[in-house]
Amino acid sequence: MARRGSGAGAARTLVVYYSRSGHTRRIAEEVAAALGADLEEIREPGDRSGLFGYARCALEALFGASAEIGAPRRDPSGYEQVVVGTPVWYAAVSTPVRTYLWVERPRLPRVAFFLTHGGFGRERVLGQMSALAGQRPVAELALRLREIESGEHREKVASFARSLRSGPARAAERPPRKGAASRGRGSRGRGPP
Ligand SMILES: Cc1cc2nc3c(=O)[nH]c(=O)nc-3n(C[C@H](O)[C@H](O)[C@H](O)COP(=O)(O)O)c2cc1C
Repeated sequence: MARRGSGAGAARTLVVYYSRSGHTRRIAEEVAAALGADLEEIREPGDRSGLFGYARCALEALFGASAEIGAPRRDPSGYEQVVVGTPVWYAAVSTPVRTYLWVERPRLPRVAFFLTHGGFGRERVLGQMSALAGQRPVAELALRLREIESGEHREKVASFARSLRSGPARAAERPPRKGAASRGRGSRGRGPP
């Protein structure tokens, strides 16, 4: 559910996430609460539940496919910063987040990224997110499932939120990581990197 900021006017941060089984949603909600941020879930018409849904995630991740996602409810260009969260799928960014970053790229202000994972692929996924957004993030957070389940993640989430609250250096003005694609909206025949 979308929320407004902490009462001092419009929120300056938007937290956007996709979650299949709830872990990334939980972190997105915690980050948004810590920042008084607005929250946006990336939604899609398709079903990813069960074994068939798992196989679909796997195939899309392996082939770097894009997904059909619903139009965002909030315009990211209206915020000072956008925090984007994804689960790791086969050492790749989840397909809905891949698509969101690529389509919204021209409207993104400075960005921060977080991901949840089982223990493998974090560096590759952070690199992919940076390439898709066309800029380096001002902050990154990677959380393993076992830290989330035990509650050990809380201090890392608090520290991540503190770094975003204190107005980090504009990393967006630094050149993107090597391999970042050129600017432009996704279109038929020319998908995300
Ligand atoms: C299709 C699929 C592929 C996955 N591949 C990886 C992987 O390569 N590395 C990893 O550490 N975890 C992997 N995982 C585990 C998820 O990253 C982890 O469970 C994540 O927290 C799920 O987030 P969610 O609950 O928000 O959907 C995979 C999960 C799925 C469904």
